[in-house]
Amino acid sequence: MNAKVITSSTKGSFFSKFQTKNQAVTRDFSQKDLIPIRHFDFKFDANKLNDTFFQHSVLASAYFEALSIFLTFGEDLVIETARYHRDFLTDPILKARVTALIGQEAIHSKIHDEWNEVLKKNDFPVTLYRFLAKNVFDYGFLKLPQPVKLSLMAGIEHFTAVLAQFMMEREDIFDMITDDDKTKALWQWHMLEESEHKDIAYDVYQTLSGNYALRMGGFAMATVTIIFLVSLGGLLIPFIRKPSNFIRPSFWKDARRSVGLMFSPQYGVYGSTVKHILDYVRPDFHPNDHDTSEYLEYYKAKLLNKADGLLARYMTKEIYPKIKAA
Ligand SMILES: [Fe+2]
Ligand SMILES: [Fe+2]
Repeated sequence: MNAKVITSSTKGSFFSKFQTKNQAVTRDFSQKDLIPIRHFDFKFDANKLNDTFFQHSVLASAYFEALSIFLTFGEDLVIETARYHRDFLTDPILKARVTALIGQEAIHSKIHDEWNEVLKKNDFPVTLYRFLAKNVFDYGFLKLPQPVKLSLMAGIEHFTAVLAQFMMEREDIFDMITDDDKTKALWQWHMLEESEHKDIAYDVYQTLSGNYALRMGGFAMATVTIIFLVSLGGLLIPFIRKPSNFIRPSFWKDARRSVGLMFSPQYGVYGSTVKHILDYVRPDFHPNDHDTSEYLEYYKAKLLNKADGLLARYMTKEIYPKIKAA
């Protein structure tokens, strides 16, 4: 690991027992860009939902529909954890970036909830899944000690970075959505911002803790939740919405294709990104080792330009957090 210039430090000894001497180095964040908090108003229409928006698949789309319901709870955990840890940071740039992370995640959570209401009106088990997730988070994840939550936050943000990069590299997936611009915009916006803020949680983790074993613990929890629990939620959706799918050959044909879309080593969302996912295990891993800056510039220029950008159509304002002296 590059032991770079030390510009920030921890307050007090809260994190001391979780720190690893050679890992809890702090870095120079002065070269890092500030990122904005963008506000949107999509005005989703329940009658215009494309419920097979992910590559025209029923079951693979259901994974993302389940993810949309569960991720609002994960984002709320990220917000709570980031807010708590921001107070321990002294680097003003990193602090402002954490404020942007909190703002971006708060708006993701709010707008996904609006989209989840659309799912609810289309017979998705939103109420049931919210109930289950609330219990898992209220009595499980949210009760964890703050350093563990910080490692979980970094793990969650690793997965959203992997997903975002996969989506950015596969623009054709979005080109297939021709009849539901708002769903397309929602996921492209979320992709863009997850990539934009992908290093913030990790930088906070390395600044305040850096403990490798704890980081692996957070990664394990994020893996179980995002790959296994969300997949289970997605798997049940088609049967809850339409029990006749059990005996419908066309559904099982879709199911086989969907498993490939998610897990094929050549082209699957998680199958083809295993190397990226597991790179997190490398002791000197950093999210920016996977450079997505050119993709980010491409999508910002394409989606946010005022003339005909898809996201510009729905964006209501953009604010940059102020840099405050420590
Ligand atoms: Fe998010
Ligand atoms: Fe995020």
